[in-house]
Amino acid sequence: MAEIVIRKTGEKIQDEERVKDFLARQGVLYERWDAGKLPAGLREKYNVSEEEKEEILHAFDQEIRSLAERNGYVKWDVISLSEATPNLEELLKKFEQIHTHSDDEVRAIVSGNGTFTIKGTSEIGYFNAVLQAGDVISVPKNTPHFFTLLENRKVVAIRLFIDQSGWIAHPYEDPEFQVTESK
Ligand SMILES: [Fe+2]
Repeated sequence: MAEIVIRKTGEKIQDEERVKDFLARQGVLYERWDAGKLPAGLREKYNVSEEEKEEILHAFDQEIRSLAERNGYVKWDVISLSEATPNLEELLKKFEQIHTHSDDEVRAIVSGNGTFTIKGTSEIGYFNAVLQAGDVISVPKNTPHFFTLLENRKVVAIRLFIDQSGWIAHPYEDPEFQVTESK
């Protein structure tokens, strides 16, 4: 279940309907998939082979196609990050810089967790969407954001794209963002 933390006030939003409403008001799509659909042998497995990635896509095929149809996504794949990922530290540093894309950034978390920090309306400012298995989010195109892992540093997620080239990160310098804001 996702949790929202508004960084400038520290306010937390935890109830599923309130999370959904909050994100909808920020233009961010949020839905829940049944993480229990993940085959038992792949639960808590973070170093996944190409065959296992196919198995994950197969397990969520219906949900992927439904979301793709609604939002025009045409490609999807699986990304996994863990201590087994070469250059994990470097990758995370790169992820942790505010950026935008010319395409939506869609992630369905199937194992582990991760946080998207997203620039909301001027009234809200930056907020964290802390995502767990079963949480699905679409950060709209051109919305400043970045992604971090939680302390366990493990995630497996399905990504959906309109066009893979749209996922190039454009750095976004934001004087309004303060790293020291409450997390
Ligand atoms: Fe991104």
